[in-house]
Amino acid sequence: MNIALIVAAGTGSRMRSVGTPKQFLIVCDKPLFIHTVEKFESNHNIDYIVIITSKDYIEKVTLWCKDYKLTKVKRVVLGGDTRQASVYNGLLSLESLVVDDDDIILIHDAARPMVSCEIIDDNIEACRKYGAVSTVIKSSDTMIRSSGKEQIEKIENRDELFHNQTPQTFKYSIIKKAHDYAKNQLDFGATDDSQLVVKSGGKVYLVQGSKLNFKVTNNDDLKLFESILESKKY
Ligand code: CTP
Ligand code: MG
Repeated sequence: MNIALIVAAGTGSRMRSVGTPKQFLIVCDKPLFIHTVEKFESNHNIDYIVIITSKDYIEKVTLWCKDYKLTKVKRVVLGGDTRQASVYNGLLSLESLVVDDDDIILIHDAARPMVSCEIIDDNIEACRKYGAVSTVIKSSDTMIRSSGKEQIEKIENRDELFHNQTPQTFKYSIIKKAHDYAKNQLDFGATDDSQLVVKSGGKVYLVQGSKLNFKVTNNDDLKLFESILESKKY
């Protein structure tokens, strides 16, 4: 069983989109998160989808999923104050859907609408082999370190640096164990699930992502996503 967990409970504070979280802004006639969920709905390897969102949006998300005929969406679950808490709630809600410890859970940001079918397939295939994988891209710019943010301290070796994206994909038992462990630790901050597995002692393997699989974080990203969709119309 391959289950996609789509996290959509954030407020999008870096976007300044006046009240509406970025994942619910309308882009080319549909809410942004629908573009994302459709990528998983249309992938033949995905069995179920679970969406995690905030209290104010549970009903709306459920209705949108009906309107857009997203039949793989089995539940819409309440998120938490942090991304980690949102993922954890999603994992807890899976207990009756998961049939096996080796079932594969793909965790994906609702705000990354351009994930490809190939990236999803590659995540599933690599996860079967390794148990825990993360989607990454090489850095094309030279990366520099500057702790004081005024001058260059160090030029990093670009060959060893990657940008971490989602999906991040795990066998159920591995990701559940890492989240259970993190929940019982103080100061176990991790901004994503691959960090959490690494910090709790596990190994995470790399899957090739794409520049197009960017996260809509600010208004420039939103304009970029809109213009890519517009360009596909012709
Ligand atoms: N997310 C979530 N629950 C949270 C925080 C984030 O489900 N408490 C989700 C977001 O909805 C998003 C994904 O995690 O799809 C990636 O997070 P990010 O891009 O940081 O989104 P926000 O936290 O909403 O944005 P910001 O950090 O600018 O406030
Ligand atoms: Mg955030």
